[in-house]
Amino acid sequence: MSTLLQELEQLQQEAETTLAQTATTEASEAWYREYLGRSGKLTALLRGLGQLSKEERPSAGQVANRVKTTLEAALQSHQEAIKQAEIARALSAEAVDVTLPGRPQVVGKLHPTTLTMREIVNICVQMGFQVYDSPEVETDEYNFGLLNFLPGHPAREMQDTFFTTNPDVILRTHTSPGQIHAMRQFAPEPIRVILPGKCFRNEDVTARAEMMFYQVEGLVVGRNVTFSDLKGVLLNFANQMYGEGRSIRFRKAYFPFTEPSVEVDVDCILCGAKGCRVCKYSGWLEILGAGMVHPVVLKNGGYDPAEFSGFAWGMGIERQAMLKRSIDDIRYFYDNDARFLARVG
Ligand code: DAH
Repeated sequence: MSTLLQELEQLQQEAETTLAQTATTEASEAWYREYLGRSGKLTALLRGLGQLSKEERPSAGQVANRVKTTLEAALQSHQEAIKQAEIARALSAEAVDVTLPGRPQVVGKLHPTTLTMREIVNICVQMGFQVYDSPEVETDEYNFGLLNFLPGHPAREMQDTFFTTNPDVILRTHTSPGQIHAMRQFAPEPIRVILPGKCFRNEDVTARAEMMFYQVEGLVVGRNVTFSDLKGVLLNFANQMYGEGRSIRFRKAYFPFTEPSVEVDVDCILCGAKGCRVCKYSGWLEILGAGMVHPVVLKNGGYDPAEFSGFAWGMGIERQAMLKRSIDDIRYFYDNDARFLARVG
């Protein structure tokens, strides 16, 4: 009898010690099988109860029961502790540090050329112009000949041309050949179109010149279209583009496809026409070339110059963007430096 009690006593101690050393739920389940399970150590001892005498059995049974319930309770509270520790460990491992600075989301935006082109297009569309697409690859005839550039005329050299292996096929040096395409499509109907797009010139790249750039051409053809219509449209454009209250001025110029031809300046938006580095202390900024469509060009487009007249203009989009957004070097536009795009809105 005393041996059985001793053994129960020892078993309880041993079981309590090993239980204290189990650190995971799995280990505690293995512990259960080892001590309390059907083929565990306590069950084995309890089988010995049967060999005791009737008198000894109740008190031994009581002790055995107490050991069993004690160990079961110990297991339960130990498993609870393990679970808490596991939760605490998971919480600290997956903890979110809300004091860390946020990671900014990089959001793309439109290129300054696209933004500026859209501004120009919107202004012109409000004045009743339609957008007309014309090709970037042209023939010599469309780019020069039909626009009244004579062969060997020095004006051709003003626009250093990219030629191709086909002697007649070139990259357009300006959007003006689109005038001929539009006129030939619409003649003899009146026209009010703008032609935005890429142009190419074989030029040394500098702060002021790129070999690929954008222009927007404007063309109006109809009966009784006069120079004052040209002035009204361009003055409205300057006010919409550069702010109410702008003045424009016309300087005489030469283009083969217009007569008379002008260059148009807007009063310097940066210094309020007082004179600064950007306007070279003149108070004026050149924004475009324009003029009344030359009779030869009207005829080449399919209009009778005795009946029809028209005006046209051409402007560099990057130039407008540079003036409006204070960009001092055209090379930034196509350098693919994301810092430029982030800086210029
Ligand atoms: N095509 C000219 C250029 O690229 C710009 C220009 C001037 C266009 C006068 C026009 C115009 O339509 O009338 O330099």
